[in-house]
Amino acid sequence: MKKADSIFTTSVHAGMDRRSHHGAASVPIYNASVFAFEDAAEGAAVHNYEKHGYFYGRLGNPTQEALEKAVAALEHGEDAIALASGMAAISSALMSVIRSGDHLIAPESMYSTSNSLFHYLSDNFGLEISYVNAKNPANYQAAIKDTTRVIWIETPSNPLLNITEIEAVTEFARAQEIITIADNTFATPFNQRPLRLGVDLSIHSATKYLGGHSDLTAGVVAGSSEFIERIRHSTNKYFGGNIAPQVAWLVLRGIKTLALRMRQHNENASFIADSLSSHPKVKEVFYPGLETHSNHEVAKKQMRGFGGMVSFDLGGFEEGKAFMNGLDLISIATSLGGVESIAQHSASMTHAVLSKEERKTAGISEGLIRLSVGIEDKGDIEKDILSALERL
Ligand SMILES: Cc1ncc(COP(=O)(O)O)c(C=O)c1O
Repeated sequence: MKKADSIFTTSVHAGMDRRSHHGAASVPIYNASVFAFEDAAEGAAVHNYEKHGYFYGRLGNPTQEALEKAVAALEHGEDAIALASGMAAISSALMSVIRSGDHLIAPESMYSTSNSLFHYLSDNFGLEISYVNAKNPANYQAAIKDTTRVIWIETPSNPLLNITEIEAVTEFARAQEIITIADNTFATPFNQRPLRLGVDLSIHSATKYLGGHSDLTAGVVAGSSEFIERIRHSTNKYFGGNIAPQVAWLVLRGIKTLALRMRQHNENASFIADSLSSHPKVKEVFYPGLETHSNHEVAKKQMRGFGGMVSFDLGGFEEGKAFMNGLDLISIATSLGGVESIAQHSASMTHAVLSKEERKTAGISEGLIRLSVGIEDKGDIEKDILSALERL
């Protein structure tokens, strides 16, 4: 397919090369872990990467490659690599560029397992980390040292929907040859393209919006050919976090409706954020599309829409739990980005392992609800929320 201008078209067609698949309208699932060669010369050429081809399941497959091409097109990257989960993507990307003794700058509020990975690398492999308030790019800049190798960005962040001004960070990072990596899971390429804003690698938990139907775990990394090749031939190969062809196919199918779904997620979440903002039992609403959001202007500049995630504070632990128990349509669950609405009470679920004090330091208030607003009728979603609030 020639490059399309609209992401509505790219979502449907990217990654498709019908001629390579006998005209099939859907890329076939290649259930092969072994690929044979015509002769020894071809075997040698493919193994030496002198000829494009496949030889072993852990190192690539035509279905996986179609997904990678689709993601590269959506993210406006030269290339992409697909892996078994968002964390496989995150660990493979980070560990392909850091060495022991390097310094990483990361947001103090971010997805908790990425944060745990950084701690693990710091405790066991000599990575030094500085945590900064990522709402202000100057905080990243102030934390830079001679050994700073990577700046980690997550915008909007999980679960507080903090916004980082990507271009401001990449400008000074590039000037000092520091690698920038952005977790683009919450925004998706429909709403934000970090590579266009100067980031080196853009990462997704494809388990979320790219897959879109809460039926798979997968991850992708997009970036320049040079960075992606580095991952392909190091961490992907050694750690073996490759995606299964069946899952790659499911993500590809999900991507075909990405633009359509995201348009609805954006619309529904904006509507719900507005509705929650005027409710007397809601103390605070976190949504980048609200004018009251601390970085609304930055979000407006770098995002096309504000995404499907809304968080809000109900004041206390018991209120948070009671709200969950009052829901009917909306599922009580931990993930996000599927077609169905999902809510979680962070203090009793994902952040229950932390003490109250630790939660406070991480900015997780006791009554914080994280809502993944689905694509159902927005009036029905609102009705469920209002009726759960009424019972508090
Ligand atoms: C922002 C973000 N990044 C990465 C991940 C990890 O993805 P996975 O669960 O697919 O490994 C998640 C999962 O919730 C997430 O929310």
